[in-house]
This record gives sequence, C-alpha cells and structure tokens, in this order.
Amino acid sequence: MKSNMEQDILRVLYTEEQIKQRVAEMGEELYDRFADKNPMFVGVLSGCFVFMADLVRASQMKSELEFIAVSSYKNGTKSTGVVQITRDLQCDITGRNLIVVEDILDSGNTLSYLKEYLLTRGAASVSIVTLLDKPSRRQKAIYADIAGFEVPDEFVVGYGLDYAQQYRNVPYIGVLKPEVYNK
Ligand code: IMP
Ligand code: MG
Repeated sequence: MKSNMEQDILRVLYTEEQIKQRVAEMGEELYDRFADKNPMFVGVLSGCFVFMADLVRASQMKSELEFIAVSSYKNGTKSTGVVQITRDLQCDITGRNLIVVEDILDSGNTLSYLKEYLLTRGAASVSIVTLLDKPSRRQKAIYADIAGFEVPDEFVVGYGLDYAQQYRNVPYIGVLKPEVYNK
C-alpha cells in the first residue's frame, strides 16, 4: 500500500495481525464479563474510533454505544493534566454498566477524571478497556480492567492514536520518530 506516513515511523510495535488477534481475545473477555449486564460502551473520542469499531464487533453481545470527547492535550506529546469535556454524553447513564473504551492509558489523568465524572452522573459501574497501557508514566492510581498491550515510554501512533490529529489511519501501532515532534 502507498503511504506517506510510514517514513515518520521509527519502528512497528504491534502489527495489524497482532492487534486483530488481541482484539478478538478482548472481545471474548468482554462477552464473558458483560453479556448478561446490558452494557453501554462509552468511547473516548477521537482516539477510540478504530479500536472501538473492531472491539464491539469482536464482542457479539447486546449493548449500546455512546461517545464522549475530552481534551487534555494541546497538540503536544504530554498531558497538560487539565481535562475538559468537549462533547458530553447524549443519553442517560443512570444505573448503567459502562465499558469505557480508550486508546491509551498514559498519565491516567483523563481516565481518573472520566471515571469519577461517569459515576457522578449515576453509572452503576465503570469498567475501563484500553488498547494500550503505558504504566511507566502513571500519575494517578487508575487501572484498566482490560488492557490490550503494554507500551514503553515512547510516543506511539496508529490504529486511532494521533500526533496533532495525524497518523490515526496508520493501520498498526508504531513509535513516532522524535524528530517529527521536536521540529
Ligand atoms: P492520559 O490522560 O495522560 O492518561 O492520556 C490519555 C490520552 O493521551 C490518550 O487518550 C491519548 O489521546 C493521549 N496519549 C497519551 N500517550 C500517547 C501516545 O503515546 N500517543 C498518542 N496519544 C497519546
Ligand atoms: Mg485519546
């Protein structure tokens, strides 16, 4: 396939094939845990969009989909620590069992804020599914209920993850060349 993004990738961490296999396992695990709970998936935009599309189809259970958008990044590679909801939920979550779908759990600022927020809004339970986990950078005591892969302390893109809104359509998970964001 032609690509003018590949030149900016330092190395591939997880291939399309590896992701596909892991997402299938995660879908099955979700089924086993939630199929009898009428869960609602809450995708964290925009990073969740590729992962969530595959995950919900890997878990063939009756469920609903909802989205929320937050921002804590200002086009850089580090979290500012301040989380803002830029697109709120459009439905009532009172008493619902939520499955929050996130691309990566990094400092933990976003998900610890979101989890608290969703519980305040009346959710019965909030479980966290993240494609990637970067535990070395955690600032908050927050854990994923299901995590796809662990990644080292490097800036990664692809399969929904961006740098300044680009590279989300790279089909695998790769480390971005530091010269791309140090320019
Ligand atoms: P946290 O609040 O620091 O846990 O960051 C969560 C958000 O930061 C994720 O949803 C991503 O959008 C973004 N993020 C953190 N690390 C990376 C990375 O290595 N690549 C791309 N986005 C990242
Ligand atoms: Mg994100």
